[in-house]
Amino acid sequence: MREENKEEGKAQTPATEELLLGEPRIGVFVCHCGANIAGFLDVEKVTEYAKTLPNVVFAMRNLYTCAEDGISAIKEAIVEHKLNRVVVASCTPRTHEPLFRAACEEAGLNKYLFEFANIRDQCSWVHMNEWEAATEKAKDLVRMSVMRAALLEPLEELSIDIHPSCLVVGAGISGMSASLSIAKQGFEVFLVEKEPEVGGFLGKLSSLGPTGADPKEVIEKYLSEIEGEKRIHLFTSSQVLSIDGYFGNFQARLETPKGEESFKVGTIIVASGAEEMKPQGLYGYGELEGVVTEGELEGMLAEDRLEKINDVVFIQCVGSRGQRVSYCNKICCALAIKNAIDLKKKFPAANVSILHNGVQVRGVVEEEQYKKAREMGVRFRKYSPDRLPTVSADERLNVKTHMELMEREIEIPADLVVLSTPLVQTESGLALSKMLRVPVGSDGFFFEAHVKLRPVDFATDGIYVCGTAQGPKNISESVAQAYAAASHALTPMKRKTMNVEAVTASVDQEKCIGCEYCAVVCPFGAVSMVVNKQNNWVSSINEALCKGCGACAAGCPTLAITTKHFKREQTLAQIAAAFPNPSKPGADFEPQILAFTCNWCSYAGADLAGVSRFQYPPNIRIIRLMCSARIDPLYVLEALRHNADMVLMSGCHIGDCHYITANHETEARFFALRDYLESLGVEPERVQLAWISAAEGEIFAQTIRDIVKKAKELGPIDKRTLRYREPERSRT
Ligand code: FES
Repeated sequence: MREENKEEGKAQTPATEELLLGEPRIGVFVCHCGANIAGFLDVEKVTEYAKTLPNVVFAMRNLYTCAEDGISAIKEAIVEHKLNRVVVASCTPRTHEPLFRAACEEAGLNKYLFEFANIRDQCSWVHMNEWEAATEKAKDLVRMSVMRAALLEPLEELSIDIHPSCLVVGAGISGMSASLSIAKQGFEVFLVEKEPEVGGFLGKLSSLGPTGADPKEVIEKYLSEIEGEKRIHLFTSSQVLSIDGYFGNFQARLETPKGEESFKVGTIIVASGAEEMKPQGLYGYGELEGVVTEGELEGMLAEDRLEKINDVVFIQCVGSRGQRVSYCNKICCALAIKNAIDLKKKFPAANVSILHNGVQVRGVVEEEQYKKAREMGVRFRKYSPDRLPTVSADERLNVKTHMELMEREIEIPADLVVLSTPLVQTESGLALSKMLRVPVGSDGFFFEAHVKLRPVDFATDGIYVCGTAQGPKNISESVAQAYAAASHALTPMKRKTMNVEAVTASVDQEKCIGCEYCAVVCPFGAVSMVVNKQNNWVSSINEALCKGCGACAAGCPTLAITTKHFKREQTLAQIAAAFPNPSKPGADFEPQILAFTCNWCSYAGADLAGVSRFQYPPNIRIIRLMCSARIDPLYVLEALRHNADMVLMSGCHIGDCHYITANHETEARFFALRDYLESLGVEPERVQLAWISAAEGEIFAQTIRDIVKKAKELGPIDKRTLRYREPERSRT
């Protein structure tokens, strides 16, 4: 299937020709992915087309490019055809980019000279019944990638020394487990706990189901191990005052009962835990005597403060699943069942009811506990979320609930009403997220880099998360995650030096006017202002701190800042290549839509639409950036100028941006762009904004359907109105 490129008949894209640097020799590898791609579009046609593109000197197709023979073919072609750029048109960079980059490196090519064209998740799988249109779109995607590839540059990653120690914030079960794991492998640990005692949430439990083990004994065992481990420095009643520096070289400052402590660490684990929500105003909590939370019941049982009781009612999902927070607390049902069993053991004649909105028990052990509770006489009564139970009091507490299955209301007298409320983020956890400049999600919990691929990492290198700081978890999940976080923290410490991501911002100080915009918007504090030789204030970027979101570059008024690997000319080349011709007016009008997505959420949402086979119209071409904050308003204007009828700006939901607050800049630019377009006489609706998470494949697909519909209503763009001052700055 290998064929050399024929020079004649090559497609030309004048807008990018002048920007080419050196003489790129590009190899394109188009994947059949079995029938996943080849079953829905013409791979042979796409490969033939690739050969006609500028600078493409070799193109071939493979049954599976990621298989051993596909990888070998890439490596051989790099050598044989002296390729200095490689484009693979296949699945998604989110899973396969590291593999293909490694193949390039093994063949002696800098990995940053590799580029992806996503023709499976974002093409063949979402246009399964549109062979012609999918083939044309795949050709467009390959062309866009080739144009960008021609302008890629080799990059060197910064190598930094890693200090062989770890700061663990929080000495609950996960913090203690992580600390012991790291110390046992020979590294120093600074374990910081704000409370006088270690144990966290575990210390608040009365027993551990199903064995009934005493949590205090478990904590004692951990504590004696920690005290016997000379590499662990435990600070209780202490708090982190500040953390400066960067991966490998963090400087932490603590306030301890003995005064301030300061030390250097290479890595940090966030195990700061969570707290139980106090449901003020719900079901009489705080007003009626005998209405308590699950955590308060744990305290009563632990301290044996319960005198004889006859009737107990548990109410599940209090404040969660849409009442005050949107999520399910996951652990409440198992906790309520454990406590119901303990109450039945203590007061066998007591009537114990659990009012629930669907019992969530996970795994065999919890299933067995559920059965055991039923056998002991615990009554499980389902209520409808539309008709929540109510609690009132006269001489005794009285719970009214609508029995969904029996379709009638019943009244249950109670001595004790126990409210199962969700875990929520703590004030100190939120302060820590700001200090470390790592994100929390819209639910307030710490937000990992990727739920499946990097579940204990942050986007910021060297900082990891475990336990309930990341969301509700039971003890075994917290411990398992603590070991995962410890092993991730150990990797760089064992290696002693690590390379950090080369995708960072860089500033041309000659062009900088010292406006400080970059310093203001940088979510990581990576920008400082320095005085140059001409005695002017100019921007300076600390590459070890910069995470490459591009919020600074997209808003720099003189274009002094760019982001490596996502340089302006590279993206402009993709934009110019997306739609070579204006859309046809009249009855055949099919709008051309260019979407900018962020790497972490909306691009992943688009991939999920593909994985789920959600179909949407083939009118859209996607350009991936690291963060939506990198969408320079210039890109939107250039897209409209280069035949797009509509542009979609998209990224993570506000609060979920992997660069903390960077997408606030996206939102501000979107509104400014709409105003600007209106001032030019262009319909502002030609620019759309959508926040789409990695889990929202269907929402992505629906967004595209809606946008295509809207674009059809608007008709083709009248580019005569689009007279904006064409910026020289685009050449930076
Ligand atoms: Fe998705 Fe910033 S990373 S919007």
